[in-house]
Amino acid sequence: MTDTLVDALRRALGERGVLTDAADRARYEAGWRYGRGHARCIARPADTAEVAAVVRLCGEHGARLLAQGANTGLVAASNPDPSGAMVVLSLERCNRTLELDLASRSVLVDGGVLLSQLNEALRPHGLWFPVDLGADPQLGGMVATNTGGTRLLKYGDVRHNLLGAEVVLGDGRVLSSLHRLRKNNTGLDWKQVFVGTSGVFGIVTRAVLAVAPLPAQRATALVGCRDGGAVLALLAALEAGTGDLLSAFEVMSAGALAAVYEHLPGSRRPFAALPGYSVLVELSSQLPATVLALPDVLEQALSGHAEAAGEAVVDVALHDAEGFWGLRHHISESLRSAGKMLAFDISVPRSALPEFTQAVAALLAAEYAFVRLCDYGHWGDGGTHLNLVWREASAPAGSEWVGVLQQRIYDLAVQRFQGSYSAEHGVGPHNQRSYDRYTAPEVKELCAVLGQFADPGRRLGTVRLW
Ligand code: LAC
Ligand code: ZN
Repeated sequence: MTDTLVDALRRALGERGVLTDAADRARYEAGWRYGRGHARCIARPADTAEVAAVVRLCGEHGARLLAQGANTGLVAASNPDPSGAMVVLSLERCNRTLELDLASRSVLVDGGVLLSQLNEALRPHGLWFPVDLGADPQLGGMVATNTGGTRLLKYGDVRHNLLGAEVVLGDGRVLSSLHRLRKNNTGLDWKQVFVGTSGVFGIVTRAVLAVAPLPAQRATALVGCRDGGAVLALLAALEAGTGDLLSAFEVMSAGALAAVYEHLPGSRRPFAALPGYSVLVELSSQLPATVLALPDVLEQALSGHAEAAGEAVVDVALHDAEGFWGLRHHISESLRSAGKMLAFDISVPRSALPEFTQAVAALLAAEYAFVRLCDYGHWGDGGTHLNLVWREASAPAGSEWVGVLQQRIYDLAVQRFQGSYSAEHGVGPHNQRSYDRYTAPEVKELCAVLGQFADPGRRLGTVRLW
């Protein structure tokens, strides 16, 4: 059977520009953690004009479409629905522009440029894009998701490092403001509409990013803390004592690290016994070691705090950055292999992290004793991946209870602790139910007005913001 849209896309993009075979489509259809759909075809435009052409052709044929970066997202926003009717528009061939402006300390990139590609180009100049993730996404996807990562505490998320953008709207019009200005107070900062909204208002085809000097040195420690209160006290002491040198504050609970040791028994064991929380602390500086003895600064700050904190600080291990980060980066994979998993990407005000975590632990102990709490995350910016694992054999039959528990935890986070159900992974089908439940009606109304302008046919994306 001929598909007139696919034929038209082939004429516009050439043979390489369109994939239809099931085997070729597969890697675009399934997400990294959630999301499994079925696409009509994969369109692979090579520049902004071709992206606009794909959008217009889809419009003429009444087809919905979804922009996809490297497909590393965690909320299923980059995967088509199961209908087989959606076109996936992959930005992977829009990856040629990478123009550095050293004096402005900024870079113009095509949306399909990979984070690793950008950092490789920046390294010889002593620069990097400091939104630091375990995955290797495309930059357009990072804008659409507003990713956070492990150094948000010091550098902010994508939003904080975005100077300009170019976007193709749902009817093929192009909105562009690819300037390199660090100051620009001229009314609406329209590009923000496309940041963290998962491509429902438009497709980010290019971006101008502010980039940062690579640290000349880092100093790293792992600090064993008795409980959540002790973690917050450590954070306060480091912020007061080391100021803007603090570049990571990653917290790993005993449950999360126990899962790493079960999955990878050869992993480093900095402490003889697992403390309630192990905190990965990192200081970094552009100043060379000859000017600033960073390890000394860290050691002094930690020993001063340990003395004042008494038994709240259980143990301190120093300088094995590779080993400490290795533990941190293996948590996600270890939890997946520990059984069934329910993952969270929550944030609450930093001050509420211990109480919120305790409230969840109490709920589990009382009603879901077969569930292990394996929380870890970016406490420096209020983030906690409060992940839960369990063995299927010890859980109740069916999966209804999982949705119920998930919602109870989200209610705790959002309603009782004024937190967020998606701190850094964005919105997608995976958390659509939470978006619907917690978003104010006025915000949905505003999205509808913006949507009427940007995508009147409602053809873009799978998540529904209004
Ligand atoms: C992390 C991802 C899951 O922090 O956000 O490991
Ligand atoms: Zn994270």
